[in-house]
Formats: sequence, C-alpha cells, structure tokens
Amino acid sequence: GVTAKIAPSMLSSDFANLASEAKRMLDFGADWLHMDIMDGHFVPNLTIGAPVIESLRKHTKAYLDCHLMVTNPIDYIEPLGKAGASGFTFHVEVSKENWQELIQKIKLKGMRPGVALKPGTPIEEVYPLINSENPVEMVLVMTVEPGFGGQKFMPEMMDKVRMLRNKYPSLDIEVDGGLGPSTIDVAASAGANCIVAGSSVFGAPEPAAVISLMRKSVLE
Ligand code: DX5
Ligand code: ZN
Repeated sequence: GVTAKIAPSMLSSDFANLASEAKRMLDFGADWLHMDIMDGHFVPNLTIGAPVIESLRKHTKAYLDCHLMVTNPIDYIEPLGKAGASGFTFHVEVSKENWQELIQKIKLKGMRPGVALKPGTPIEEVYPLINSENPVEMVLVMTVEPGFGGQKFMPEMMDKVRMLRNKYPSLDIEVDGGLGPSTIDVAASAGANCIVAGSSVFGAPEPAAVISLMRKSVLE
C-alpha cells in the first residue's frame, strides 16, 4: 500500500535561512521538503529555481519534492537534475503536447516524475499520464489556486482524490494548499497520502505536533 509523506512547504519558511529551516522541519519529523518553483508567468509569483535547490542540497540529504509552477517545465529538467532535486512535478495544463518526453527526461536525470493539476482542471486529464507505459509516479491535486501560501482549502477537490484512489490503489496522491489540522481528515479519508502543508506547520507553536497529527490521520 501507500505510505504517508508529510511535506512542509518551504514557501512558508524564512528563505534567508533555508538550510536551518529545512533542518528544523526534518527534526520535527517531516518526510519530504516541498519546494515551490514559480516563474512569475504560469503563476503571478516568483520564488526559487535550480541554484537554490543546489545550495540547499549541500546541507541536506532529504527528499526534495519540487513542484514546478512554470510555463516551460522542460527547461528545468537538466538544471534541477544536476542541482539534486528528488521529485519533479510538472503541471498538466502546460504539458499537453510533451508529457511523454517530460516523463522520460525526468527519469533519465534520476528524478521521480509527478503531474499536478489546478483546481479548474478535470481529473480525466491526468489519466493518460498514469496509464502510460512510462507513467508518472505521483499525482498532485491542487486544493487552492497555485501561486501563494496561506489560502483556504477547497473541499470540492476531494472528488478528484477519491476518483484517483478508487482507480489506483497504490498511486502516490499528493494534496497541496490549505492543509492543516482542520482539513487533514477530509483529505486523508478521500485517499491522499502525500500531504503538503506550509502556513499550518510554519505558523504553529509546535510544528512537530502538527506533523505527527497529520501523519496519524493518513495512516488511520
Ligand atoms: C501554492 C503552493 C503550496 C503552498 C501551500 O501555490 O503550491 O505548496 O506553499 O501553502 P499552504 O499550506 O499555506 O496553503
Ligand atoms: Zn506546492
């Protein structure tokens, strides 16, 4: 079966102290570190890219779960592979023509391919990428509009998670946006096992308690 992966979103961290923020989250029990890469074009915000991943990699062996909110994900494969990224999740909305090439190149660079979809994108659009001979290994269901942390969880997106989980019992299904103690049960019971959480973890007085509560909810 699937295992729980709790992935604090480093978008909510202090970017000026990224290495120590990462270490703090791992000490608190994080499984993965979620890295939001934005290009100021696919989304109206600009964050980090391969040079920052490369710098962080020198300080940690952790799984770096990279979420590419960019218009041209293909351009990021080689630099991110070299930088030491672990997962490479591209958006289906910008990959209709070349998803097969993307998956192949991501694997060739030693990363794990995933596909993400925005709230307005129907779940059917990712099925070909899972049913492929060379499939994605994770689907990221966005539960807010991509671009910013601290937004409200969209429970309507749980229909997508349930449909995916029914069809694919062993697929990694990640949810991202507005996850925390008050929304984790809905997401976990729908079938999500990889949980991204930014503001709810970084804003908590005891981040370790939030991480362990969310892990328990996924495993139940
Ligand atoms: C939003 C990003 C998320 C974001 C989540 O575009 O993909 O990873 O950091 O932040 P919270 O958990 O605060 O909604
Ligand atoms: Zn994200």
